[in-house]
Amino acid sequence: MFTIVNREEMAGGTVILNEIEAPRIAAKARPGQFLILKANENGERIPLTMAETDPEKGTVTVIYMVVGKSTELFRRLGVGDAYQDVIGPLGQPTHIEPGKNVVCVGGGTGVAVLHPIARGMKQAGCDVTSIIGSRNRDLLILEDKMRLASTDLHICTDDGSYGRKGFVTEVLKEKLEAGGVDQVVAIGPVPMMKFVSLMTKEYGVPTMVSLNPIMIDGTGMCGGCRVTVGGETKFGCVDGPEFDGHQVDFDELILRLRAYTEQERHSHELCKC
Ligand code: FES
Repeated sequence: MFTIVNREEMAGGTVILNEIEAPRIAAKARPGQFLILKANENGERIPLTMAETDPEKGTVTVIYMVVGKSTELFRRLGVGDAYQDVIGPLGQPTHIEPGKNVVCVGGGTGVAVLHPIARGMKQAGCDVTSIIGSRNRDLLILEDKMRLASTDLHICTDDGSYGRKGFVTEVLKEKLEAGGVDQVVAIGPVPMMKFVSLMTKEYGVPTMVSLNPIMIDGTGMCGGCRVTVGGETKFGCVDGPEFDGHQVDFDELILRLRAYTEQERHSHELCKC
């Protein structure tokens, strides 16, 4: 059983951290890999990238935003409750090149995915400038952890309630203008990753993004997670989740992510009753 041993609420209860007992996964997992979780027998399979792993304790940590029926069911699980299924580690781990000047850009709950990557890069001797953002101060997560994982941290909020008022791309543009950036890592809402990638392409700076397509089996069998990268079909679950941001067809990804919006809204409404 995949028992929850620690649970925290962030961003006013809309973002939840679960530390889950999963010793065999914790022993094998590497930064950038993900899990597929199911709350109960009939539950939907939800992919979440690991925010933390602790091989000694035998636990893995995920952080998710409550956005629909399945994450609403996840939210109702407390310490001592268990997920029906946790499958992983899945996907390719992050490729880290030591000694690079890296800018890590994170938005919303993407910061939870970005954190282990930024930390891994800093541990590998990279100079890590991080830029994290959210709509407002209450929705900003993991500021302290990102500060430790970075050489330099910038914070942006859309409404100016904390840090600099504006988008993460504004700070990124200043860094790119200053020069010396070897690589950008962008993880967050798809439009944010799209605009970061468009900007870095102008400056010729390689950019890695972590994609979150709809997934079912997580093993490359169903094709549900297909994305177009460099004109070729790739599977997010086995080829990703990380891809070259300059090659990703973000508009297609946005359309595919919206395919079941109406059914998801209806299902979420029924679940609240
Ligand atoms: Fe089925 Fe990737 S989730 S092929």
